[in-house]
Amino acid sequence: MKKWNLNSWTKFPAKHLPVYQDNKELELVLSKVKKYPPLVFAGETRSLKKSLADVVKGKAFLLQGGDCAESFAEFHPDNIRDTLKVILQMSLVMTASASVPVVKVGRIAGQFSKPRSSPMEKKDGIELPSYLGDNINGMEFSEKARIPDAKRLFRAYSQSASTLNLLRAFSQGGFADLRQVHLWNLGFIKEKTKGKYKEIEDKISDALAFMEACGINSDNNRRLRTVNFYTSHEALLLPFEEAMTRVDSTTGEYHDTSAHFVWIGDRTRQSDGAHVEFCRGIKNPLGLKCGPTLKTDDLIKLCNILNPENEPGRMTLISRFGADNVEKYLPTLIKAVEKEGLNVVWSCDPMHGNTIKAATGFKTRPFDSVLKEVKNFFAVHQAEGTYAGGLHIEMTGQDVTECTGGAQKISENDLSNRYRTHCDPRLNADQALELAFLISEEIKKNSKYSKKIIQAAS
Ligand code: PEP
Ligand code: CO
Repeated sequence: MKKWNLNSWTKFPAKHLPVYQDNKELELVLSKVKKYPPLVFAGETRSLKKSLADVVKGKAFLLQGGDCAESFAEFHPDNIRDTLKVILQMSLVMTASASVPVVKVGRIAGQFSKPRSSPMEKKDGIELPSYLGDNINGMEFSEKARIPDAKRLFRAYSQSASTLNLLRAFSQGGFADLRQVHLWNLGFIKEKTKGKYKEIEDKISDALAFMEACGINSDNNRRLRTVNFYTSHEALLLPFEEAMTRVDSTTGEYHDTSAHFVWIGDRTRQSDGAHVEFCRGIKNPLGLKCGPTLKTDDLIKLCNILNPENEPGRMTLISRFGADNVEKYLPTLIKAVEKEGLNVVWSCDPMHGNTIKAATGFKTRPFDSVLKEVKNFFAVHQAEGTYAGGLHIEMTGQDVTECTGGAQKISENDLSNRYRTHCDPRLNADQALELAFLISEEIKKNSKYSKKIIQAAS
């Protein structure tokens, strides 16, 4: 393997990178970003990797969620709070079902750049370059807005820094108190589902009451009022990722300090491409999107390049095939990974393979397809004897109307009411939480059965 350095990726073909008109300006911006403080710290990425290693062993479950694309327009403390709130609510339901800790990772504080299916967008006979994310160009359909502007990186960095600041305060300062999260869930069950998931909530109520009786509560136990919350985004915009990559003084290793976890998208996972080259040299835990075109040989090759030491917690394979394609593609990949004895987290992204265009013209995702993909993912893992370790979703804490279905029965005609995403349709707060309740049986089965595997192995 050739020597890696911070910019060795520039010698490899790179897909989905913007072409800046003014390279001097880009260099100037990047030279400033290189001197900005890291957003996250190497010790934190190491502790996330350790938690993900627990997921590999079936001793924890990964929940990763947030916007498809963060935007400058939706930047507001309430939005950050509400996204975190839903992730905490979902993770409480999942912890109760699985009886294992849930590792919480947001698609947040840096999830801006987007790979697009077409480099150009056509509207009313006019063709313009596509929108690539708020840190690259503007969403407005005008020639000027669509020109990549390097100065947008300053704003994206600053938004990420203050988002992270608030997330750190919320996760440590009492907002994440287990009693509080439980009360939110009780409110949801009573008001939105006519008591449908009461059984799960009763189980949590009983557990909290039991702990209280034993003298363990969030007043005297820090673990019950704080959470570890991690950030992630797609490592797409390599010049920025490079500028945020620093040497950890305690180990001499490179860490991409723009997020704890970064992933390689389904469109940029070429084993001889720039994105893979960049990611192999950083020590962060990595995700790899696995779509229908991924060949088993390539997957094995990618795992060997990105995780040559087969370190548990380094690789998370995020499958996204579409609800009806899981059985067709996933078993072959699982068999190949098992045969090679690779340590990976298997996570399910039920969003990106289930996007359709509604008759009203909006991009949407039917809630039932999302649910079906997750259920098929669990079923395939059970059949293969492997652990289904995570869920990766595009969601928001807002009451948007972007995905159809769910308990609110959002119809195609409702989509225009509150369609606010800058890219793909997200589950709204109720749909995301409902998904957690609806897969609780699968999570429970999955976890019982993984405990058997752990026991048998020890
Ligand atoms: C995404 O997660 O936002 C994304 C673009 O996914 P994928 O690379 O799987 O299409
Ligand atoms: Co998306």
